[in-house]
Amino acid sequence: MSLNTATGARAAEKIELIIDTDPGADDVVALLFALASPDELNIRALTTVAGNVRLDKTSRNARLAREWAGREDVPVYAGAPKPLMRTPIYAEDIHGKEGLSGITVHEPRPGLADGSAVTYLIDTLMTAEPHSITVAMLGPQTNLALALIQQPKIVQGIKQVVVMGGAHFNGGNITPVAEFNLFADPHAAEVVLKSGVRLTYLPLDVTHKILTSESRLRQIAALDNTASKLVCAILNEYIKGDMEHYGIAGGPVHDATVIAYLLKPGLFSGRTVNVVVDSREGPTFGQTIVDWYDTLKAPKNAFWVESGDAQGFFDLLTERLARLK
Ligand code: RIB
Ligand code: CA
Repeated sequence: MSLNTATGARAAEKIELIIDTDPGADDVVALLFALASPDELNIRALTTVAGNVRLDKTSRNARLAREWAGREDVPVYAGAPKPLMRTPIYAEDIHGKEGLSGITVHEPRPGLADGSAVTYLIDTLMTAEPHSITVAMLGPQTNLALALIQQPKIVQGIKQVVVMGGAHFNGGNITPVAEFNLFADPHAAEVVLKSGVRLTYLPLDVTHKILTSESRLRQIAALDNTASKLVCAILNEYIKGDMEHYGIAGGPVHDATVIAYLLKPGLFSGRTVNVVVDSREGPTFGQTIVDWYDTLKAPKNAFWVESGDAQGFFDLLTERLARLK
């Protein structure tokens, strides 16, 4: 805690944060959300991974989000172009060929930082104060897994890892049981799950309870700034797939729930459980198996978020987008 000399209030320490991401429509909303919150989040870097689209496009889109937020101070490091072991899959059908349906993309001026995301993660986490850095994972967990494999001691620098991924009560979105980020690289998720880091999952169980609606999109549109226009254009396209697939009146903004969790964890609830991921070929490939009732009495290795305040989420997102241009 630090003391605000003006008010004498005790402000919470900033969260030292690395965001690993595969932008991706909901990733970009999450990045704008985070980049608009410098009072709480000291974003050390964005690290990119192949996932929704190929690495060159996720890396460009991360730089676009940075530009739109006016935050070219944050470096972007490109990471893994493919999963640890499985054949790569992408989600261009959902996110579009450029990874950002609904808007016209361009090549942002500031380029990528030198060096790979994996090297950046290792160097940063090895030299960080003990358990001081939070890593938000918004895509396949390949970069962090590679860093852990190459240098397991990086756990010393990690405060917690907060993952958008997995599904238990909700069922999957890429197969009947698997969620995309886990399905895209289950071996990487297994490495992270077994690393012993403090781990929080925001799975489809919660993201599918935090859905857009016409009034929530109007709330964002009413800001009438560049950021809100971008977010509405992105979301209006992005939610179409889920609305049609599930027959629902709105769509999830998966990755942005990770940022809301970091900013206002009280919006969410969950339980510490044992989670394993199935990396065997077959119908349950990429499934997260969650021992919600502690049946197996296995070691609990993750906090599994299964519920959230939807309106509270959209109010917070809107309030932060209002701070951007
Ligand atoms: O299943 C949703 C997740 O997969 C989100 O992170 C989305 O961006 C895609 O990567
Ligand atoms: Ca993502």
